[in-house]
Amino acid sequence: MKTTSLISSLSLIVAIGFCFAQDSTTTGKVLFVSDKTDKPAKFFLDAFTEELTASGRPFDEVAVDAKSPVDPAEYSSIVVYSQVMAFNNISPVSAWVKSQKSLQGKRLFLFVTANRWFYESRLKKLVKLVGDRDGEVVDAVTMATTKMNAEQKRGLVRKMVKKMP
Ligand SMILES: Cc1cc2nc3c(=O)[nH]c(=O)nc-3n(C[C@H](O)[C@H](O)[C@H](O)COP(=O)(O)O)c2cc1C
Repeated sequence: MKTTSLISSLSLIVAIGFCFAQDSTTTGKVLFVSDKTDKPAKFFLDAFTEELTASGRPFDEVAVDAKSPVDPAEYSSIVVYSQVMAFNNISPVSAWVKSQKSLQGKRLFLFVTANRWFYESRLKKLVKLVGDRDGEVVDAVTMATTKMNAEQKRGLVRKMVKKMP
């Protein structure tokens, strides 16, 4: 009887330990990277900051370019927010992704906005850059914002943040 109780207790301890081990690999700090620009897209930067805060997940927010010494090693999930500027696909945040040697084991959430041009090709480029570095693209969202109201834009940000483990 005593042996049975001991085995049950040990099984319980092992099960609890397993749950914690699972939790530490599936959650963790989020890195929110965005373009380093003179005129950042304030609406989306604020929306991500507020939604991530409301979700209760710890996160670091940083505007990056290829020279930024932001090491993704300590993060399990990375949100990349990029806005199209000046009718091209050059973006500081894309340069940062490109400068990473590997994104293996990282979950990437990609979010691209533009008034109306180049948003699909910008997203496509980011997806490829992440894939080439073995990152896992969990969600990839892009949109032309001209006909969207604030609540619609906010809804897309919220939806993405909810997909984070
Ligand atoms: C200097 C500047 C250049 C921009 N260039 C483009 C562009 O080439 N194509 C485009 O669709 N949107 C362009 N935009 C719009 C931004 O992409 C847009 O403001 C951003 O994605 C955020 O969307 P929102 O203005 O609806 O908040 C530009 C904005 C600025 C300030």
